[in-house]
Amino acid sequence: MSYLTSENELGEQLRKLYLEILKREPDEVGFTHYLKLLKNKEQSISNITETLLDSDEYNILKEREIESIQNKSFLDKHLHLTSNLSKKEALELLKELYRELLNREVDSDGEKYWTEKILQEKLSKKHVRELIIQSPEYQRLKLVNQSLTKNVLEDMKIHWDKRAKNDAKFYIYTDYKSENEFWESGKNEVSAMLNFIKNHPNNYLQETYNLKALEIGCGIGRCLYPISENFKEAYGIDVSKEMISIGEENRGSRKNIKFFENNGKDLQMLQDNYFNFCYSFFTFQHIPSKDIIKNYFSEISRVVKSKGLFFFQINEKSLVENESTNTWNGVVLSTKELNQIINQNNFSEIVKRTDEEYNGIMTQYLLQKN
Ligand SMILES: C[S@@+](CC[C@H](N)C(=O)[O-])C[C@H]1O[C@@H](n2cnc3c(N)ncnc32)[C@H](O)[C@@H]1O
Repeated sequence: MSYLTSENELGEQLRKLYLEILKREPDEVGFTHYLKLLKNKEQSISNITETLLDSDEYNILKEREIESIQNKSFLDKHLHLTSNLSKKEALELLKELYRELLNREVDSDGEKYWTEKILQEKLSKKHVRELIIQSPEYQRLKLVNQSLTKNVLEDMKIHWDKRAKNDAKFYIYTDYKSENEFWESGKNEVSAMLNFIKNHPNNYLQETYNLKALEIGCGIGRCLYPISENFKEAYGIDVSKEMISIGEENRGSRKNIKFFENNGKDLQMLQDNYFNFCYSFFTFQHIPSKDIIKNYFSEISRVVKSKGLFFFQINEKSLVENESTNTWNGVVLSTKELNQIINQNNFSEIVKRTDEEYNGIMTQYLLQKN
């Protein structure tokens, strides 16, 4: 094909990507389009990989592959007969695949399950690999590890939308074991937070039912719903339209809630000096840019009334040394940096709480607008 004859390295990388993912040579339209994006540095090879992995074509290929893997006669012909691993070899294979795909050591349950399965079903390495790739754990890791492009605002939107579609509740509250536990966790968090504020000797927020509250990064309403039960109005802002749409669907008869999709950095749809209270939990810790967090503080200061309160959680220390920043592992702010941001935006610190057990990621502040 003439458009592939040049020695262009980018073109060759693109071609390899097509062969690897879509199992075919690139068509002219796709090739020209992606090559242009690569040349102009509008997209990287890893973005294009993501796009191809998200394409209908790849999904159809994958479905066919899974169907054929699940097809008994196919297994008998191609997979069962190709492998007869010993228990030791099966375990070695598992250790290798766990490290490569799941980024961890194999646990005792996994070891028992997989070695029995490999031995009984005489699975080949290729088949075990495929099954681990289909596992929810691998799929979730893939969505957590999405890398950043030059357009961080767009990344946040795309990545959180994908997470919302895949399993919103998991990415919001990774520990949850049941639907009930998920919603209960929100109620408990909000009631503990309100009690904490109300029990402060300065008598903050004694009567909330006439007040207006705002949540930044409200997700599907885990905390916004209980907030709405305590306040006259409850507004939720989120960068992900998919999160918001699930939140809207489940809102039931809660009429005093308003959800807004924003651009991931400001609150331009909200008027000045409107809210008495602003809340943000499990959100700033995911934002990959200090400037965006700073901008949120300036915006929150704009929309919160004088003497209004702002309660938030933030990551003040790194969880893992050298962990790279993305839309899951957001930036870490030092106490000094946070204090500066707080002062510059016309807030005063009332209380700061840290939980050393979580190495700073659960740092919470209660501020008051001056
Ligand atoms: C872990 S979830 C927590 C949701 C909610 N705060 C809760 O605790 O139930 C993080 C939420 O923040 C949203 N988010 C991430 N980055 C954001 C940004 N820059 N601006 C607004 N929302 C953001 C995500 O879409 C997601 O809904």
